[in-house]
Amino acid sequence: MSTGRYFPSPPDHVPAGRMHEFDIYRFSPGVNDPLEQWGSLLASDAPRIFYTHHNGGHWVFLDYEDVREAFRNDSLFSTYQTPIPPIEPYPVMQPQGVDPPEHKTFRSLLAPLFTPVAVEKMKAELHRRSGVLLDAFAGRGACEFGRDFASLLPTGMFLYLMGMPEDRLMEFVHLAEVFMRSNDDAERATNIQQIYTVIGEYLAWRATRLGDDLGSVLVKARDENGQPLDHQDVLNCGFLLFVAGLDTVTSTMTFIWRHLAHNHAARRALTAIIDDREKLSVAVDELLRMHAVPNIYRRVKKDMVYRGVTMKENDRVVLPVSVANRNESVFAHADTIDLQREINNHLTFGAGPHRCVGSHLAKTEVTVALQEWLRRIPDFEVPAGAEIVGHMGPTLGFNRLPLVWTPAA
Ligand code: HEM
Repeated sequence: MSTGRYFPSPPDHVPAGRMHEFDIYRFSPGVNDPLEQWGSLLASDAPRIFYTHHNGGHWVFLDYEDVREAFRNDSLFSTYQTPIPPIEPYPVMQPQGVDPPEHKTFRSLLAPLFTPVAVEKMKAELHRRSGVLLDAFAGRGACEFGRDFASLLPTGMFLYLMGMPEDRLMEFVHLAEVFMRSNDDAERATNIQQIYTVIGEYLAWRATRLGDDLGSVLVKARDENGQPLDHQDVLNCGFLLFVAGLDTVTSTMTFIWRHLAHNHAARRALTAIIDDREKLSVAVDELLRMHAVPNIYRRVKKDMVYRGVTMKENDRVVLPVSVANRNESVFAHADTIDLQREINNHLTFGAGPHRCVGSHLAKTEVTVALQEWLRRIPDFEVPAGAEIVGHMGPTLGFNRLPLVWTPAA
């Protein structure tokens, strides 16, 4: 990987009218809710395509159509070397960090493992894991939701699917959190190395004990000539699985549970349909629309004028999915959570060639967690005066979400 080639130009090409003050890693004074922070842009005088000087300088797209276009149009917007702030060398995650058609090698390897049929077979284990976690604290009447439940379910499931030892659960939770939340250069560089070490050691170990887990699939993979895939690419794919499916699910759940804790009617409505597969699926999609956690990054592939805006090769672009999902032009009463919303083309899992491979798993994790939770704890709230601490960055969410309820007698 080269250093320096992919750094953006100074923003001499950006007119003053396109500049807007916004730091994707920081709250404005008095704000602690990432969705509020991002949502406020829609009501502000920010241009729908604006440039901020923070974090190395980058564009932000606010319109649904532009966000979707950047997801889909890989001839203009690349996923290769996109971090914000820019950092090199940076992992070329497989398949997310590779443009079509090269991304197909690993995309085709992963996609069959996470189809609806494949995920259906993971459900029993998800129910079991949710139940075990809940049984540990349901009788206490209180928990720290992120620490006790939302981080452990997806991370534990990842270890299970990969065939990794579960005694390293807390270490993995921490590594995934730092990756998604830190904008400190030194911390990020160390964290990336640590994740590579963990994945590398594990895959080397797994190569001597092949099974039918995801780790073995990566180790056994062969190209069309029957040759092993490039070792670094295999590591990069393990790396992506590590960072793509852990903190994203955790953060999504913190938003949804915060909403439910504040909203008695929503808890009632969900509890009433908890065994109705179709209705629950519609409701969960709406919860996912309104609680979209990813800010996805792209890099401009060539100098161009996009929708009247001059952009330079290597400019970074942030696609705030939570904002796209709240565009009134696409979603009627976009700021209202309608658990029966029928047409719901949200972008929570992206679109186009890199659309989330794990979307069925992610949605199923949230669905099963809701089912098991609401059966045991139908009513819960945030304790009066409790501090809820949100975080910004590539994934939005809450670090701390204390919840209380009256335990069943
Ligand atoms: C609520 C949780 C999740 C959200 C919101 C989410 C969101 C996304 C988004 C927006 C993308 C597109 C990235 C891009 O266009 O650059 C993506 C890609 C991806 N996600 Fe997820 N994801 C979630 C959970 C998961 C899980 C559980 C897995 C585990 C398998 C996973 C695996 C992946 C992979 C492998 C890709 C890359 C696909 C490709 O490049 O072809 N994600 N995800």
